[in-house]
Amino acid sequence: MSIEKDRRRFLKFLAASPLAALPAAAWQAPKTGSAAERYFVPLKDAKDAFSVTDFEEAARRTLPQAHFGYMESGVDDDLTVKANRDGYQRIELRPRRLIDVSKVDTKVTLFGTTFDSPIFICPTGAQRMFHADGEVAVARATKAKNTLQILSTVTSNSVEDVMKARGGPIWFQLYAPAKWADAEHVVKRVEAAGCPALALTVDLLAGRNTETYLRARRADSRQCSECHDGEPGGSLAGRVMFQGLDMKGFQMNPRFLTWDFVDKLKKATSMKILIKGLETREDAKLAVEHGVDGIIVSNHGGRSEESGRATIESLPEVIDGTSGRIPVLVDGGVRRGTDVIKALALGAKAVGVGRPYLWALSSFGQPGVEKVIDILRAELELSMRQCGKTSIAQIDKSTIAMKPV
Ligand SMILES: Cc1cc2nc3c(=O)[nH]c(=O)nc-3n(C[C@H](O)[C@H](O)[C@H](O)COP(=O)(O)O)c2cc1C
Repeated sequence: MSIEKDRRRFLKFLAASPLAALPAAAWQAPKTGSAAERYFVPLKDAKDAFSVTDFEEAARRTLPQAHFGYMESGVDDDLTVKANRDGYQRIELRPRRLIDVSKVDTKVTLFGTTFDSPIFICPTGAQRMFHADGEVAVARATKAKNTLQILSTVTSNSVEDVMKARGGPIWFQLYAPAKWADAEHVVKRVEAAGCPALALTVDLLAGRNTETYLRARRADSRQCSECHDGEPGGSLAGRVMFQGLDMKGFQMNPRFLTWDFVDKLKKATSMKILIKGLETREDAKLAVEHGVDGIIVSNHGGRSEESGRATIESLPEVIDGTSGRIPVLVDGGVRRGTDVIKALALGAKAVGVGRPYLWALSSFGQPGVEKVIDILRAELELSMRQCGKTSIAQIDKSTIAMKPV
């Protein structure tokens, strides 16, 4: 056969190949960026997400700019938001082989309640800003996945409605009202609703500069008042958990708050009291001295101070400050099951996520939140198997190593 005939046959073969049917653009994918960026396909169904960050882009496309900006914002230059993520990259896992990992149990028990995994849903305010069903949609998801949910003081659905949707215990997060009588009113209501634990958030007492949010709000040409009253989620007076209070001159997170408030809280309720937003050994020690039942190491997802310090870096010193006497939980920058196992290895009893489930709630509602919980739990199980751990209790310091500097 002549060379020319061979060439023609080869060209005919190429033309019939399915590769030739692909649009030219498929071969022009950018060579830089993450795999999610290089092979970007808009998410049409929550089920199609590979990782929790797939929901970020979906939320960006779904939400008004001001609402998305509010969610993504840190403070000042958002350096602490980034630090929270970077902290996990400085820790390595130590894989173990030839251990029977056919059965892996991710269950944890916190204050007597057993949850399917140590991954919990952080309190975030005004979730109807992200999806019409707000906290109730999240509660349906946490019920389906037997997951701990902490409800924010500035929830857009009442604690009673959210408890009903969850059909099980949720914890409540408290922003301290300046007047003790107001605080007591909220605490009694939450206790009557059946919450077993209350987390007092203390990381906003000094004030904050949420500059990214302010920029996003200014760049959004719509008027907030077209949809709601003033700031995202409405004014404080409209908040469902403040119903029945005299809102004239009402203030929360006052700068004068001290440990006296914690002592009063301990006396006023039989709920377990946690403090959310501690980051140092000294404060952890004081928390134990004041009879606190647990600590959530948190910098509000980089939304309180611009310390530049990752919560995963603060975790060991906080645990040290408690001398192991009370459970310590952590949140901030958790995006993978590998992050969860690293935090557990450093001694956290549970590990919280904020923005990931908000992205999913914004774009797909309840099924999105369920998918986030599923993905993180599956990733955690996978990394447990890779490290030869079959239960959460087995995860200890030997599971990790610090990256050499
Ligand atoms: C939009 C948004 C609203 C939040 N609202 C609250 C809140 O009402 N109360 C609170 O204690 N923490 C609040 N947080 C902080 C979270 O509870 C949690 O500490 C943080 O989101 C964890 O970091 P991550 O978003 O990187 O996962 C909020 C966080 C975000 C992103």
